[in-house]
Amino acid sequence: MRKLTGAILATILATPFASADPVDDTLILNEETELVTRTTAPAHVSDALDEVMSGWLFRGTETRAMQADDFDNPGMIFVEQAQEMWETAEGSEGKSCSSCHNDMESLAGVKATYPKWNEAAGEVRTLQMQMNDCRTNRMGSDAWKYDKGPAINMEAALSSVSRGLPVNVAIDGPAQSAWELGKELYYTRNGQLELSCANCHEENYGNMIRADHLSQGHVNGFPVYRLKNTKLNGVHSRFKGCIRDTRAETYSQGSPEFVALELYVASRGNGLSVEGPSVRN
Ligand code: HEC
Ligand code: HEC
Repeated sequence: MRKLTGAILATILATPFASADPVDDTLILNEETELVTRTTAPAHVSDALDEVMSGWLFRGTETRAMQADDFDNPGMIFVEQAQEMWETAEGSEGKSCSSCHNDMESLAGVKATYPKWNEAAGEVRTLQMQMNDCRTNRMGSDAWKYDKGPAINMEAALSSVSRGLPVNVAIDGPAQSAWELGKELYYTRNGQLELSCANCHEENYGNMIRADHLSQGHVNGFPVYRLKNTKLNGVHSRFKGCIRDTRAETYSQGSPEFVALELYVASRGNGLSVEGPSVRN
């Protein structure tokens, strides 16, 4: 049964008739800010791709329209919840995020640079890891669960204040070894279907896989509100779902492997606009 699914999938991926180009459309946010949804591939992926394209270009007309207007984007409800939380004191120090960071807008641009090397900790951190560091070490509060309610809502809020700015993740210096690990994971064939991320998102973007239009699998739109599960979804949860589809065992949200993979995948999208929270099916 499983083998059969694999064979069908392989056929789908190899069928040229299933191909559909990404749409020729421009993402203008709230009728004022034009976002970069396609641009020349950064040097470190130019042997694989000429152009990098946002997942937005691979979605249907209605889904694209929802993301273009904050009143229609269901992800913005969670951003509002996070804005309230930003002002709420928690933990033994009696502090809120705003006690130290003032307005959330003071962190505009931050999302575009994550995952990022943290010198003091000697590790690459995702935005959620950094937020939890503030919570546990500066607020005397507890860590939020990875990719869950408050963590993903706050990530979406911090992303929303960076929308339109170009993804600009550093891959050199001390971040390089994590980046190399992420790259290795990206090209590793997983599961019974023996498919790597690249097999789907690099070699077959534009093709249909069942009812889904395969994108290049960038993370510039994260967190994403999915119409399918009506909530915000994190990068690591998406990775997990994609690897599970190949019928492989996988890593967990927040694991060093997924942090490295996020760094690598984010860097492939350097130059695209930050779009989160975006809307996907
Ligand atoms: C007691 C003060 C304090 C509180 C409260 C605090 N932070 Fe921070 N935060 C800092 C400091 C200081 C840094 C810089 C730390 C570093 O670079 O290692 C920082 C860094 C950050 C960064 C990374 C900025 C960058 O340029 O990379 C983010 C994101 C962040 N905080 C989010 C939050 C959120 C969300 C909350 C509330 C849940 C919060 N912080 C609460 C002091 C605080
Ligand atoms: C069997 C094919 C397949 C494989 C292998 C696969 N994915 Fe996916 N992935 C999909 C499909 C289908 C979607 C949903 C449509 C889309 O956005 O491409 C998706 C979506 C994504 C998205 C969301 C893109 C967006 O803009 O919303 C990311 C990120 C992603 N994949 C990353 C990965 C990574 C990293 C790997 C390797 C660990 C991987 N995928 C492996 C099929 C695959």
